[in-house]
This record gives sequence, C-alpha cells and structure tokens, in this order.
Amino acid sequence: MNITVTNKLAQRLMEASGEPVSGQQLADEFGISRTSVWKHIKDLQEKGYEITSVKKKGYVLSDIPDSLEASTIQPLLKTQLLGKTIEYIASTESTQIIAHQLAQTGVSHGTAVLAEEQTAGRGRMARKWDSAYGKGIWMSIILRPDIPVQRAPQFTLIAAVAVVRAIEEVTGLRPDIKWPNDILVNGKKCTGILTELQSDADGIQALIIGIGLNANQEADDFSEEVRNIATSLKMETGKHVSRQELVRSILFYLEQYTEIYIKEGFGVLKLMWESYSTTIGKKVRARMARETLEGIAEGITDDGVLQLRTADGKLHGIYSADIEMEK
Ligand code: BTN
Repeated sequence: MNITVTNKLAQRLMEASGEPVSGQQLADEFGISRTSVWKHIKDLQEKGYEITSVKKKGYVLSDIPDSLEASTIQPLLKTQLLGKTIEYIASTESTQIIAHQLAQTGVSHGTAVLAEEQTAGRGRMARKWDSAYGKGIWMSIILRPDIPVQRAPQFTLIAAVAVVRAIEEVTGLRPDIKWPNDILVNGKKCTGILTELQSDADGIQALIIGIGLNANQEADDFSEEVRNIATSLKMETGKHVSRQELVRSILFYLEQYTEIYIKEGFGVLKLMWESYSTTIGKKVRARMARETLEGIAEGITDDGVLQLRTADGKLHGIYSADIEMEK
C-alpha cells in the first residue's frame, strides 16, 4: 500500500470538511482505480478514520484518529514552511535524537519530528521527561535561522511565547512562563522546552527546539517524582484537548514569531515574553550547579539572561538555574 497516497487521500477528505467526495473523483485526482481508492479508504478506517460511504454521493469523513501522524496534522496547517515535512514515529527514545540525526542529513528548515511516546525523553539539566503514549505532544522542530550562535537562547523564549499563544487559542487557558522556558498553568508545569544547537565555524547549522506538552494526562499518568508539580491541559480544563490543533497552532505561531524576529529583532518578542512571565519582579531563589542566590528577578537581557539583584545590591546574570519563587 502506498502510504503517501493514503495520507493524501485522508488530507483530501479532511479538506472537504464533511462534504462527500465521490470514488470516481478521487480515482481521477490521484490517478488510481476506484478499487484502489476503496483499499486506501479501508486502510484509513482501520487506522481509526471514520469514513462512511454515502450512496451515489461518495465518501464522507466524520472523525479522525487522535494521532500525530502527518496526515492528521498537515491538511489544516496554516504555515508556509514549519511542519511541511513531518517525521512521525509512534515510539522512540527521544525526538531530539531523531531531529539531531535528521538535521545532519540536511533536512529543510521547519521539519518537525513527532512521537506518540518517548522511552527516554530528556529535559533540561539532564533530567528525564515523562512522555506517556498518546497523552502529550513530544515534538522537536528543526530551524535553520541565519543568526549568530550567541543569539540562539532567544529562540527558546520565542518558542515559549508561541506555545503559550497556542494553548490560549486552543483551550482558553491563560498560562504563565517561568524563566527560562517552563510553561505553567495555575502554578503547575504543563510544558517544557529544550533548545539544542548544531553549529560550526560558519555559525548555527540547526536549532533543535524540543517541546514537551502535557495534553491529556490524568494525575496518575505522571511519575510520583513530578505529580505534585506537573499538570496537563485536560486536568486544567476538565476536557480532552486536541493535540492536532495544538501542534498546528504551535507551528503557526512559531513561524509568525520567527518572521517577526528576523525582520524586527527580539524587542517586541521580549515584551511578549515579559507579559507572560511570572518570574519578573518576584523574589526568587536561583539554584545553580555551584551556588544558590536569592534576590529580586529584575528582568531578562536581550540574550535571555535573567537579571537577579541580591540584597547587597549586586546584579547577577543567571544563565541556567532552577528557579523557586516566593508565593
Ligand atoms: C524541560 O526540562 O523543561 C524541557 C523538556 C523538553 C521535553 C521535550 S519532549 C520532545 C523533545 N524530546 C525530548 O527528549 N525532550 C524534548
């Protein structure tokens, strides 16, 4: 069975928005026989697509499976480049690993790697990332911006703003960002972002933006270690959320903000990041590998470095730390 034709057929039926499309029309459009159309339809039905055959009218798609396969994401995607190539793997160690490998083979800007499950999902500071099957969005996006290496951390902040906008749009929730890149809803973490880099003497070859978004977990789905500090969008809204809509929306906003960044610089995006930040203006404790500092988080620099003023009046630049905030 030709997977690409099956996926394109699914895409065609999705774009018909519930209107019937005749077998003959599909056969003509795809240059295949009607029997072959029927076989592809059967294949889709087995994958969980609800397709009915209406007499004399054609095939009607009424529901699609809750999966992150390209055929479920791409039809309604509103981007020019991001997500136009999707590498889908049902189960993998980490989408970051796959994305790094793909980036080295020269795949294009905007390629996204998506998995239903990660068996060794990784977080910041070498932590593990819970990535239960079918419950969240485990995605790594390969970007190839033409910017100097030292500006790469800004993309973590831009990605955080894109994810927040997507969550707002799809669920109506109002998330906060905790520096540098934790997205919280009602004080608990629902998304983490891990940005990694491939670079050489010529500059950035690829940015790998890893996004782990807890969509439809229940409390029991989280390991004991994180149960008290993690949440999912389903737990916060009381409703199952569409991972497909979220992926499309994240890709859309990330593309928009990348364009703004390239044209206008970081300024307006920094303001957006600050407007969602719960860290700025608060008394915080920053735990770093060698020391812990307490003080007021005054802001971030253009490079995304947190400015922390300690009681002795000194201003410290924090590059990487775990942040605890006073309530
Ligand atoms: C964090 O520690 O807050 C960052 C978590 C990032 C998790 C995502 S899930 C998709 C991608 N693959 C990984 O192994 N990690 C990132």
